Amino acid sequence: MSTSPSKIQLIQPDDWHLHIRDGEVMKDVLADTARQFARAIIMPNLKPPVTTVDLASAYRTRIEASLQSLGVHSFTPLMTLYLTDNTSADEVRKAKAAGIVGFKLYPAGATTNSDAGVSDIQRCYVALEAMQAVGMPLLVHGEVTSAEIDIFDREAVFIDQVLEPLRKDFPELKIVFEHITTKQAAHYVRDAQTGEKNTLAATITPQHLLMNRNAIFAGGIRPHNYCLPVLKREEHRIALLEVATSGSPRFFLGTDSAPHAKGAKETSCGCAGCYSAFNALGLYAEAFEGVGKLDKLEGFASFFGPDFYSLPRNSKTITLVKQAQSIPAELPLGDATIVPLRAGETIAWSLA
Ligand code: NCD
Ligand code: ZN
Repeated sequence: MSTSPSKIQLIQPDDWHLHIRDGEVMKDVLADTARQFARAIIMPNLKPPVTTVDLASAYRTRIEASLQSLGVHSFTPLMTLYLTDNTSADEVRKAKAAGIVGFKLYPAGATTNSDAGVSDIQRCYVALEAMQAVGMPLLVHGEVTSAEIDIFDREAVFIDQVLEPLRKDFPELKIVFEHITTKQAAHYVRDAQTGEKNTLAATITPQHLLMNRNAIFAGGIRPHNYCLPVLKREEHRIALLEVATSGSPRFFLGTDSAPHAKGAKETSCGCAGCYSAFNALGLYAEAFEGVGKLDKLEGFASFFGPDFYSLPRNSKTITLVKQAQSIPAELPLGDATIVPLRAGETIAWSLA
C-alpha cells in the first residue's frame, strides 16, 4: 500500500488527546469527532478543571447527554483527571476503580486553563507513586513554563529538567508525552530504554505533521495556526513525520483538537489551539501519503493507542476516499462560530 491508492479501509481509529469543552458548544465539536473516531481521551482542562472522580463522572454524564441529543450511540468518551499539587493517593485509587484512563499533568501556566496545574512535580510524588502502583498512565503536557526559557525550547528543556528525572524515579509509571513537536522529543521517545513492558509513548497532532512555524506568519499573523506547544522549524516536522510513519508502537494519534470561538482567536491576545476535528483523519492521511507511508496509517491511528492503554482495539472499519473536500470557512460553535484548520481550502482525503 505504499503507492497512492484512492481508497483506504482501516479499523476505526480513536483520538488519544481531545478537547471538547462543556455546555452548549460541546455537541458541535463532538459531532465532528464522533463521525470519525470510536473513542477519544477527553482532556480535563475545563474551568474549573476536572480534578476529582466525581467531577469526571458528572462531565461524562453531560457528554453522554450531548451524544444522545446528537443521536450518536457509537462513541465512547475516555475520561481523565487533572493532576494538581493536592491530588491524593486515594483519589488515584478511586479513579482506577472508576475507569478513569489517565491523569493529565499541566505545568502551571503552560497552556489554556492550566492555572491550577502543577507548580512543582515533587509535590505530586504521592499521587505518582499511587499511579505507578495501580497502573494509571500519566499524560504530560511537556513544556517548562519559566518565562526566561525561549518558547521554542520549552519542550526540549522539559525533557531534561522534568521528564528524564521523573522516569528515573518512577520507572514503571506509564507516561504519554502528549502532542510532541520537536526532534528532541521524537528521538527521546523512540530511543528510550523502557524495560520489557513499554512505559513510554507519544501522541502527535495533524498540524505538527503538516506545518512548520512559518505557517503562523505566512503573509501576516495566522492565529488559527497558533497552538501550544507552538509549531516548530521544518527539521522538527520532518522528525515527527519520520517517527509517526515508522511503524513504532510508541507513536499514535492524538489530534489535540482544541476549539476556541473565532473571536477568541482573532483578537489582540488570541487563545492557543487548532480546531482539527472537522476532518482530522483526512489531514493525517495527507501527511502519511506525502511521505509514501499510507500503509503505516492504521497502526498509528487505530492500533498503537489502545495497545498502550491496554484497551481492546476497535473492530468496525471505516473508509477514506481520495475525494477533494472543501473545508468551510467557519462552522457553528454554540451561538458563535469556529474557524477549522485549513478553513476555506480543499483537502484531498474524505470519509467515505
Ligand atoms: C489546548 C486548549 O485550548 O485547551 N490548546 C492548545 O493549543 N493545544 C490546551 C493544550 O492542550 O495545551
Ligand atoms: Zn491539548
